[in-house]
Amino acid sequence: MLKLDNVTKVYKTGTFGGESLPAVRKVSFEIRPGEVTALIGESGSGKSTLGKMILRLEPVTSGTITYEGTDIARLKGKRLREYYRHVQGVFQDPFSSYNPVFRADRVFATIKRSYFPSVSNAEWHERVETSLKSVGLNPVDVLNKFTHQLSGGQLQRILIARALLLDIKVLVADEIISMIDASTRVDVLNLLSNLKARGLGVLFITHDLSLGNYISERTIILRRGVIVEMGATQKVFDNPQHEYTKMLLTAVPQLHKKWEAGLEPELAAMGVNAQDDGRPGRYSRSSLHPLANMHARKGRREFAEHELAEGLLRTDTYLRTHEEVPPLVEIEDDHFVVESTRVH
Ligand SMILES: Nc1ncnc2c1ncn2[C@@H]1O[C@H](COP(=O)(O)OP(=O)(O)OP(=O)(O)O)[C@@H](O)[C@H]1O
Ligand SMILES: [Mg+2]
Repeated sequence: MLKLDNVTKVYKTGTFGGESLPAVRKVSFEIRPGEVTALIGESGSGKSTLGKMILRLEPVTSGTITYEGTDIARLKGKRLREYYRHVQGVFQDPFSSYNPVFRADRVFATIKRSYFPSVSNAEWHERVETSLKSVGLNPVDVLNKFTHQLSGGQLQRILIARALLLDIKVLVADEIISMIDASTRVDVLNLLSNLKARGLGVLFITHDLSLGNYISERTIILRRGVIVEMGATQKVFDNPQHEYTKMLLTAVPQLHKKWEAGLEPELAAMGVNAQDDGRPGRYSRSSLHPLANMHARKGRREFAEHELAEGLLRTDTYLRTHEEVPPLVEIEDDHFVVESTRVH
């Protein structure tokens, strides 16, 4: 459906634009219908830049983004408008998407003018109300307010409601949950599940690994603008390969997962003799990821952290000093990791 092929973004920086910052490097992946793809990475790793390129808010420096086989860089006028009928985004900073002197209803009036000029006002009003309710908003609470009178979470949900009025096939959701309070979060997560069931493809950008795990079928781990690991979410989370993925996982409680199994395989993989503790029951019932448990084990924590940090440093040094990006290798069906032999 929507496909990225070797997409690179280099920002010109510095006072006179003399410096360049490669924010995204040779990224290739696909957003498929009926699937949520989680895009995970630390601050500055290039997640929003990818989202913006998909929405044509930033041009790609090289590589292509195609939608239904057409290079989106070539869309103009009517065809670009059609693209936005199908591909929409909800952004991290919703305040920047609004003009503060407009009332919220203006957001909806604009789409009616562009996409549904022949729908009657009464019918349109009904559609807007239904859409707002589906994102947990009360239409009378939000519609005639100025945007500065609304919270970030309300604005984000208005943007989701706006996208739902269109015939969207792809939604780019950039940190949408972070601004929403816990009680509404469930509504929005359920809404995303419904969209998925209706065949939508969602790119779900997040810092939050457990949220990514909960909602997505596929996971992409981004480090310094490069995909270091990607694949079926279950495989990436259950069998993380890259040091960065492992490091992210150690820091995050896996609330919805119980690990009953022992840690022997993980420990063996790290070169640690699992038998020397002799009390496997101690770590078998925790709700943390096994790697986090491993860290918690007395005498092993520093060793494990050291191993991960070393591996990560190798990757970072490689990425900093090499222009080419090491290829992704498929280590099991639908599970890819950046080639480790090159990352030394
Ligand atoms: N318009 C721009 N001009 C120059 N540099 C930019 C621009 N936009 C982003 N960058 C830089 O590109 C890199 C990637 O930024 P991006 O916003 O994509 O990161 P992110 O992964 O979304 O981070 P966060 O989690 O903090 O939102 C950062 O180093 C950022 O400073
Ligand atoms: Mg961002």
